[in-house]
Amino acid sequence: MHILRTSTQFLRTLSSLKYPASNLNFTRQSIRTMASAAAKRLEGKTILITGASSGIGRSTAFEFAKTSPKNLKIILTARRIDTLKDIAASISKEVGDGVKVLPVKLDVSNAAEVREFVKGLPEEFKEIDVLVNNAGMVKGTAKAPEILEEDINVMMSTNVTGLINITQAVLPAMMKRPDGGKGDIINIGSIAGREPYAGGSIYCATKAAVRAFTDSLRRDLIASRVRVIEIDPGAVETEFSVVRFGGDKAKADAVYAGFEPLTPGDIAEHVVYCASRRENVVIADSLVFPNQQAGSAPAIHKK
Ligand SMILES: NC(=O)c1ccc[n+]([C@@H]2O[C@H](COP(=O)([O-])OP(=O)(O)OC[C@H]3O[C@@H](n4cnc5c(N)ncnc54)[C@H](OP(=O)(O)O)[C@@H]3O)[C@@H](O)[C@H]2O)c1
Repeated sequence: MHILRTSTQFLRTLSSLKYPASNLNFTRQSIRTMASAAAKRLEGKTILITGASSGIGRSTAFEFAKTSPKNLKIILTARRIDTLKDIAASISKEVGDGVKVLPVKLDVSNAAEVREFVKGLPEEFKEIDVLVNNAGMVKGTAKAPEILEEDINVMMSTNVTGLINITQAVLPAMMKRPDGGKGDIINIGSIAGREPYAGGSIYCATKAAVRAFTDSLRRDLIASRVRVIEIDPGAVETEFSVVRFGGDKAKADAVYAGFEPLTPGDIAEHVVYCASRRENVVIADSLVFPNQQAGSAPAIHKK
């Protein structure tokens, strides 16, 4: 936006001079900014976002729509279909009908449901260009050996198996494109996958698995033009901690007290930035912190 404003100011200055801009062979249409290049590169694409009913996924849907509002298709998926429908309506209201939004109920941990979902997509949404693997969750803060089996299973099946399920279902269509395949797979990892912390062993293990899967996938697909991208956020204020503490909002709020966490929009901007680089540019791996974070929780036990 800043660049856009600067360009507009520059044009105004030019036209107030005695030479009109057209004499200088320099028209408003000819100015290319980072924002206009991003909009153009995304035009006509189909974006699939998992976990789009809340937090980072929801913001990412809005960010894509606002960045390229003329001609874009977005598929929103999560388990809360009514919320997805409301988000779809809000996006259309905000950017108009240049962006077509399809909300679909989907549990990524159910492999059969994921396969049926991809097969059953309407024709105009079948050609997925960008997959944002964002669905994920954390449950509890229990330490081994007291971690509930159901919590272990739901974190593993959502964050790891779920992400792999949808990637495997979407990749075949990407691979059919010329040059051995083309598309973007953007995986949302976490600082927790790089630096584990006490009380988060399963969540940290799932995000380390996402990191290993992503790195392997990039190597698997090296002969194609598919870009494999991982974004690891630090602390972002979303429903994430509310889910962790089983709906206890006061406990969730305490996580973000005393410092300024990232907003989901901060991560959404970075997702869209990565997806809208020139096709030969891969922002393979990034770690995004709020200003006052530099790692996970400290790990020294003092007597
Ligand atoms: N917030 C943070 O501090 C932080 C930091 C680093 C990484 N992350 C990662 O960022 C991603 C997004 O989290 P968030 O912070 O935006 O949390 P959030 O607000 O709780 O959003 C999580 C999303 O995942 C969806 N989801 C959960 N289980 C699902 C399943 N089985 N199938 C389909 N969708 C499912 C939820 O939708 P439904 O409940 O409607 O299904 C929701 O839309 C996660 O992968 C998380 O691990 C978050």
